[in-house]
Amino acid sequence: MTILDRFKAMDYGPAPESRGEADQWLAARDLAKTLFIDGEWRAAKSGARFTTVEPATGAALAEISEASSGDVDDAVKAARKALSAWRKKSGYERARVLYAIGRGMQRHARLFAVLESLDNGKPIRESRDIDVPLAIRHFIHHAGWAQTLDRDFPGFEPAGVVGQIIPWNFPLLMLAWKIAPALATGCTVVLKPAEFTPLTAVLFAEICARAGVPKGVVNIVQGGPEAGEAIVNHPDIDKIAFTGSSEVGKIIRRATAGTGKKISLELGGKSAFIVFEDADLDSAVEGLVDGIWFNQGQVCCAGSRLLVQESVAERFIGKVKARMSHLRLGDPLDKNTDIGPLIAPSQLARVTGLVAEGARQGAECWQPASDLPQGGYYHLPTLATGVAPSNILAQEEVFGPVLAAMSFRTADEAVALANNTRYGLAASIWSETINRALETAPKLKAGVVWINGTNMFDAACGFGGYRESGFGREGGREGLIEYLARAKTKGEYRRIEIPAAKAGESEDGLIDRTPKLFIGGKQVRPDGNYALPVTTPKGRLLGEVGAGNRKDIRNAVAAARASKWGSATGYNRMQVLYFMAENLAARADEFAARLAALTGESAKKARAEVEAGIECLFAAGGLADKYEGRVHQPPMRAVTLALHEPAGVVGIVAPDEAPLLALLSMLGPALAMGNSVVLVPSERYPLIATDLYQVIETSDLPAGSVNIVTGGSAELAEVLAKHDDLDGLWCVGDRALCTTVERESAGNLKRVWTNAGHAVDWSDAARLADDFLRRAVEVKNVWVPYGD
Ligand code: NAI
Repeated sequence: MTILDRFKAMDYGPAPESRGEADQWLAARDLAKTLFIDGEWRAAKSGARFTTVEPATGAALAEISEASSGDVDDAVKAARKALSAWRKKSGYERARVLYAIGRGMQRHARLFAVLESLDNGKPIRESRDIDVPLAIRHFIHHAGWAQTLDRDFPGFEPAGVVGQIIPWNFPLLMLAWKIAPALATGCTVVLKPAEFTPLTAVLFAEICARAGVPKGVVNIVQGGPEAGEAIVNHPDIDKIAFTGSSEVGKIIRRATAGTGKKISLELGGKSAFIVFEDADLDSAVEGLVDGIWFNQGQVCCAGSRLLVQESVAERFIGKVKARMSHLRLGDPLDKNTDIGPLIAPSQLARVTGLVAEGARQGAECWQPASDLPQGGYYHLPTLATGVAPSNILAQEEVFGPVLAAMSFRTADEAVALANNTRYGLAASIWSETINRALETAPKLKAGVVWINGTNMFDAACGFGGYRESGFGREGGREGLIEYLARAKTKGEYRRIEIPAAKAGESEDGLIDRTPKLFIGGKQVRPDGNYALPVTTPKGRLLGEVGAGNRKDIRNAVAAARASKWGSATGYNRMQVLYFMAENLAARADEFAARLAALTGESAKKARAEVEAGIECLFAAGGLADKYEGRVHQPPMRAVTLALHEPAGVVGIVAPDEAPLLALLSMLGPALAMGNSVVLVPSERYPLIATDLYQVIETSDLPAGSVNIVTGGSAELAEVLAKHDDLDGLWCVGDRALCTTVERESAGNLKRVWTNAGHAVDWSDAARLADDFLRRAVEVKNVWVPYGD
């Protein structure tokens, strides 16, 4: 072969990384003892083991101890025992430990990379240059947070013992994302790696032991779904952090309902990769390679849906196919390999099946004429064109090297297509016009948006999704809050019993006032045409309210969805809330009298509640243009704009306690951040909310931004929890109601906050404002790289 022939072929010779050190490490370890519990290496109590295999060859790599629920229990006990000393350590002491972990990992970076590629099948270039350095950065970054907690999060304490369950696609990186913030905040950990990829967690535990992590602070249990379930259901765990499939995420949401466990879920995605006609097409092709063929497409934020503008679609697809023909499939340990094997035969079968079904539904599936390496679980990179929006390849997370391509004509159409999914994890926008890209980013329902780039991550920048991609963020400030909690309030929440109305006894003619529901800016009759009596504490009739039902809630959610409130500026929202507070202040006497009559409390106390409510509206209004996001400066040529966006349509179920103040404490922050609201007021004292109709009507709030449905709280809260077009739900009630609401919210994984049956101190205005403002927003991280 001449030199010219070589240039033409552009063939690479093999450049394998040695596996010698990894094999030695495996040989030297007592693999029968691979549970790391209370600082010791243990075998599973049952003696059970499972085999982890090399996806590139199918050969067994190691036999690993498989934890049963008894082992998980031991690990939780160890974590509980270690908690109090660990959380009492100074931030400085914890920072030293985190830094020591990061340094220990740096010293063994090559071994980590090789083990990861052997166990997972990902190309060594990726494990060496991405997974391992990002994991190290996570620990070193979080060392700093350990020391600034008191300054940055006053009033919070560590969440406690944390159960963490991670997937196989980024075994070490997901471990780092989970363990670093937990240790920084003073939590102790029981972590379960995925059953396909146990190895780097074993090496990590060795490093923890050497880095001075006290025994019991980090516990690693190995195993599959059963060990995961034992963690989720363990009564002595305070928080569950999970990354994996949306199906299991929903199981966890249901299983933890009513237990008081905090949860954060990082789930699947179907991320859009949008190419406008003014994009640098060659760069976009390279971005796409990274977007969908990185880690064989087994990436939750993979750019698996290509949306390309019609005018350049043909040219772009041609370039993509040409590039695909040069992707090199092969040995993950070869530094020239672009695409390795999938994780397991089950995953290969799933991907193959989805491609076949996509083709059956009309997609044209194209693959380059590359050779498929023998012996491992390889799948060729696949491009599906002619994909209808309803095609399974456009809707389902494939989790493999399969790209579904669609075209669009206008920017609006691109946004509509991008948002046509139940997921909302990430998106990429490619355009040389930065104004266009920045205008499009806020319209996308996705937690991360990369402009002219893809798959950029950093420990300082939050990562996580909207919709069924889960809730909570990992990384940076937003991620830390997931591992912190307020001290639990003492006492149980109590419903206030409704006395039966005494026949014929009404209070001073008030019986004539029978307010309707308030939906879409209008007072409307309840669908069922039933009314409920409202009485004084002694049972005298004060009035009646409409008994709302499922249909009323449906109408209210539709009206809230159609509201224009979310696009109002912060300054505009601020003025409307100030106006609303002023209008309420003008009628403070009337509200105080009504409150006193309803609740039977003294005139002075009622007046104080009204004043506190007005102040709370004022405070929320004042923050409408100030509770802003941040700018991160990750260690690359990029800025990341962590924008605060409204959560969307939020349901609020208000309590009987402090019926006006509690309602306004939640409504104020929700509106301040641009959410539209469906409000179910106190069941016992609904008239205090229906009196607000006039205040709302005279305050320039656009129609549909606040909708009020009176009626049975438990029934209406459950309807809200089940509603698939509601983005968030805040519900105050007794334990049974909180449990129901949390469980029933799993359908679309709406963001739910409940008081978990505890009493709430509605007088702590500053804390409540802080908490509800945080719940009122989604953080979207928009990455804007710069330079040539
Ligand atoms: P999975 O969600 O079943 O597994 C993830 C982790 O959860 C593993 O550690 C597993 O042992 C554990 N687990 C499984 N069932 C559990 C349960 N009932 N309770 C507690 N823990 C449990 O994901 P799997 O089966 O490995 O992959 C199936 C599909 O899920 C993939 O094809 C992909 O679409 C999606 N997936 C998404 C991931 C992401 O990062 N978003 C990661 C892994 C899978």
